[in-house]
Amino acid sequence: MTILISTQYQSPAVYHETHLVSVPEKNFLHHLIKPTSSVLELGCGTGRLYPILGTGGRKYFGLDRERLMLDFFLEKCPDACVAEADWNDWPFLVENFDFVMMARNTWFHVYPDFRLSLLGRIFSALGDKGQFVLEVDSVKDCDKAQYVDFFPHSIAEIVSVLGKAGFLMHSRKSLMGVKTALCFRKACR
Ligand SMILES: C[S@@+](CC[C@H](N)C(=O)[O-])C[C@H]1O[C@@H](n2cnc3c(N)ncnc32)[C@H](O)[C@@H]1O
Repeated sequence: MTILISTQYQSPAVYHETHLVSVPEKNFLHHLIKPTSSVLELGCGTGRLYPILGTGGRKYFGLDRERLMLDFFLEKCPDACVAEADWNDWPFLVENFDFVMMARNTWFHVYPDFRLSLLGRIFSALGDKGQFVLEVDSVKDCDKAQYVDFFPHSIAEIVSVLGKAGFLMHSRKSLMGVKTALCFRKACR
């Protein structure tokens, strides 16, 4: 049996209610985001993190391919700047961001064959002192086979593929249970 994870994005209200921001996640991001002035959130979904990432005078740009998720987001936050697009097509190279985020296992939606090309474009969009932050669940090998639109892999594998794209992990933070935030910078700055 195969599982299509993306069907949950057809019910944004349910997704939003069942993926609340945890206290450790909130505290961690508040601290991390403070010195930054521009944020790109890939796979922003319902804007779960917008009250943290998009406030404090920060420039925020969210991107997601699911119209229903963005409609839910914009209903709550009509002033948010978002685009309906696939991250493989979007030319987010026009200006630099100093913070790029892929929250809550969004990274696992990137097709393995497209990882390096997407990372190359994130690298270009990120300022030299910027941070790229991924939130992922720790996964076991047996989790891998059953999905058609979700490609979980271990933290060691994530660090390795990001290393190939020129990123170096400078810290990681356990957020709650299996949830971990991985923080990367450009390796040569
Ligand atoms: C697990 S949800 C996370 C949503 C949000 N970041 C959060 O923390 O609640 C993953 C999001 O990535 C979006 N997504 C998946 N593949 C995408 C793609 N190729 N381009 C743009 N968005 C994509 C989905 O539509 C979904 O909203």
